[in-house]
Amino acid sequence: MSYEELVDRALNGELGEGAQIAAKVLKSIARAMRASGYVKITSAHISGVNYYNIGDAGLELLQDLSRSTRFTVPTTINPCGAPVTYVSEEFRGTIVEKQRMIYEAFKRMGSTGSCTCTPYEGQNLPSRGDHVSWAESSAVVYGNSVLGLYTNKEGGISALAAAVLGITPNYGMHLDENRRPKKRIRLNFRIKGEARFGALGYIIGKSTVEIVSIKGIEGASRPELKSLSAAIGTYGPQPMFVIESGGSSEEVEEIVLEEKDITTALQALSDQAEPQAIVLGCPFIAEKELSELTEALAGRRLKIPMLIFADSKSLQNITDEQKTILSLSGARIFTEVCPSLSYLPETFGYISVATNSVKHVFYTKHQSKVNVKVMDMSEMIERYTEKT
Ligand code: F3S
Repeated sequence: MSYEELVDRALNGELGEGAQIAAKVLKSIARAMRASGYVKITSAHISGVNYYNIGDAGLELLQDLSRSTRFTVPTTINPCGAPVTYVSEEFRGTIVEKQRMIYEAFKRMGSTGSCTCTPYEGQNLPSRGDHVSWAESSAVVYGNSVLGLYTNKEGGISALAAAVLGITPNYGMHLDENRRPKKRIRLNFRIKGEARFGALGYIIGKSTVEIVSIKGIEGASRPELKSLSAAIGTYGPQPMFVIESGGSSEEVEEIVLEEKDITTALQALSDQAEPQAIVLGCPFIAEKELSELTEALAGRRLKIPMLIFADSKSLQNITDEQKTILSLSGARIFTEVCPSLSYLPETFGYISVATNSVKHVFYTKHQSKVNVKVMDMSEMIERYTEKT
């Protein structure tokens, strides 16, 4: 059966009500985007999971769908507004109950693992070259640019529809000709650290809508590339970037950046207020970063609280000894919850924080009016810890 026949059968109601809705969604997108048919996907990642965002209307829709709809490809879901598999004293009342109901509806449909914005850290990692339907902008940019996946920047509904039928409209980032960079960003200096990579993504997102190649970031670490991807996904429309190495062949317009451009961007992003707490994990922190953090915190105590938001699989993978070091330092770890959309002042009582994430700056400033200071994790350890 061709993918077009699959969509037609679903539209006729032959595959159930959920598949019918999914087909309507995918067919409308295919028409609007003038897609060349559909392409098979091997993975879906769905956003729109947070009760703060979708409210009761979204919850009801998901509960209705979950009565008969099932995902046909490995599917994960984004972080929530409250923990769903454990109790945490900061999260109380209706939000917890409603968030669990949303989570359970997704589970009934077949989502796997726990809520995460870094499915590529092990919970849902497709192979290089795979077409997928992902709806978390930081994961989309990282997936296309670093992991070699093919995905558009999907919304929660389009990713959900793709997860049901196992296909997605074939347009945009699914076609090689649309993935070529139209501009080059050339760095005339050596860039280092998550904060500076985030500032680079902020500058790229603010200065062009085109896909860019970046010259001068070869050898960037995984946390640096996660930070860059999250910032581009937040501040710009581009679903990917290209890391340029060696001699460049393409004749494209070039934007040259100096170190002072990054410093100026960081100053513009950072508030002066003294932070009351540290927020790490936007996107979610993974096993290697957790291990590095543990090493840096061994024998030290935090002077202000540190909230770490981690991918649960990564947290499972660190040793009990490492967990003890984190706990002795005073750090607290949360899984499943998005720090940027969990209302820091109301939930944790902070109106001023330090973070290494330029994406966190955007959301927590706009949503919660929180003051944010941006700096690397290593600088936070230096400033806000002392020897025990
Ligand atoms: Fe993840 Fe929330 Fe940041 S979903 S990327 S922690 S805004």
